[in-house]
Amino acid sequence: MKIAVIYHSDTGFTKRYGQWIAEATKADLFSLSDAKQVDFNVYDAIVFGSWACAGGIRKLNWFKNHLKQWEGKRLIAFCVGANPYENPDVQEALKQNFPVKDFANVNVFYCPGGLNYEEMPPTSKVMMKMFVSMLKKKKQRDEDMIRWLSSSYDITDKKYIEPICKLLKEE
Ligand SMILES: Cc1cc2nc3c(=O)[nH]c(=O)nc-3n(C[C@H](O)[C@H](O)[C@H](O)COP(=O)(O)O)c2cc1C
Repeated sequence: MKIAVIYHSDTGFTKRYGQWIAEATKADLFSLSDAKQVDFNVYDAIVFGSWACAGGIRKLNWFKNHLKQWEGKRLIAFCVGANPYENPDVQEALKQNFPVKDFANVNVFYCPGGLNYEEMPPTSKVMMKMFVSMLKKKKQRDEDMIRWLSSSYDITDKKYIEPICKLLKEE
């Protein structure tokens, strides 16, 4: 099976998952900006990965707009976010972002990333700062969450790519 992995990443976590998947499945790896010049007709499977931003998923519309022309291929999307895998909000967010009416033929996965303030563009830093100060103003402050979101952390793990690779290796 010829596989393409396309990723969109600002601070590196989604790129890392894309690299892990490509290595494990011998896939071709493209950043989203490079993917715009690629002819995907030659691929049997396409994996799209991007990161969660304010409840949405960056560039998901780009992927959605290609689904019709990729009909018949094995299609996988993975979302990378700051939340741990076990957080119940994660499954709810996936449901909201991948409605069955648009993504019926897409297998969707979540891979925990983290926060990387060192690599974050200034606009994202400002947004995160605003979010944290909003949390601080709440009557019932969640001190753990405030501390957690105030500095960089990394909760990536190769184990999260296993179900994706399994699906790509199935006949
Ligand atoms: C402005 C902003 C909004 C974010 N919103 C969410 C969110 O709604 N849910 C979530 O799980 N993570 C959220 N994150 C965290 C990113 O999804 C996380 O840092 C991700 O690993 C970034 O991926 P990247 O390193 O590939 O750019 C947000 C980050 C930023 C900067």
